[in-house]
Amino acid sequence: MKGIILAGGNGTRLQPLSLVRSKQLAPVYDKPMIYYPLSMLMLAGISDVLIISRPAELPLFHKLFGDGGRLGMSIVYAGQDEPRGIADAFLVGADHIQGEDNALILGDNLFHGANLPSLLRRSAARLNGCVLFGHQVADPEQFGVAEVDEDGKLVAIEEKPAEPRSNLAIPGLYFFDGGVVDVAKRLAPSPRGELEITDVLRAYMDEGRADLMWLGRGVTWLDTGTHESLLEAGLFVRDVQRRQGTRIGCVEEIAMHMGFISPDDCYRLGTEMAASPYGRYLMDCARFYKRLPASARATEDW
Ligand code: DAU
Repeated sequence: MKGIILAGGNGTRLQPLSLVRSKQLAPVYDKPMIYYPLSMLMLAGISDVLIISRPAELPLFHKLFGDGGRLGMSIVYAGQDEPRGIADAFLVGADHIQGEDNALILGDNLFHGANLPSLLRRSAARLNGCVLFGHQVADPEQFGVAEVDEDGKLVAIEEKPAEPRSNLAIPGLYFFDGGVVDVAKRLAPSPRGELEITDVLRAYMDEGRADLMWLGRGVTWLDTGTHESLLEAGLFVRDVQRRQGTRIGCVEEIAMHMGFISPDDCYRLGTEMAASPYGRYLMDCARFYKRLPASARATEDW
């Protein structure tokens, strides 16, 4: 399965923070924002990823991840010159997708939860058209919104409705089959001038091929689009990490866990950042992981 991270846009709500650097490179506590969505794709088992951003900023993303080889992955890059909408990711990314199943995650969406890794892998495995997620929120008018009937069947999808018919927001993480490129090609821009992801989802829903999975109470979904929410996300990450002693969105550790790299590779990446607690954490993880019996390494809900 292929992965795409959409990390462009003008980040206008975060100005002046986003004036000279993409918001997806802004710090969320101890790491750049894009580590979090990348880690989600990795936990879904995806090691072949396209990062889409503003052309001028692609060299910065490249500086961060290179060709992905250090994480045992393939990471490639493509420019989106104008923010034409989220569904434009499938047009910019058509050569990367090459007709295969794929997962799209927005570069500013951060998730955390104990059951997430297995949920992601289950979603990828049951894909028959598309999989979208639903998460209950207090302010659904800010998001794509899903409506379900009494049997839990998906019956409507709307983008930022003024009067939402449910409080089930659709987070920025979606799984699609390879046909999504053709669906995106047929889209017309919405009244706000964008190719809407909700129009893509609705096309699948109308064919009865959209599968809605609920992110339960155990999952935290954070938006990082405003100064306030960015700070809150950073504090959330700090608090969870401090309480649990483990790190969220730690791509090197996840690469080791997923078998993309060896514990020795992870240790070496840690030594390169040994002056920081993050680097020393990687070294500790690698040492610990090496001592674990193979049976204990493969826990579903790591
Ligand atoms: O966060 C989840 C929500 O994301 C969904 O519930 C909505 O259905 C979906 O439309 C989207 O809403 P937003 O208003 O949050 O989208 P925004 O325009 O802020 O873009 C989300 C991310 O995608 C952001 O990091 C910028 C990037 N982006 C966006 C557009 C429109 C691009 O890279 N290129 C684009 O053309």
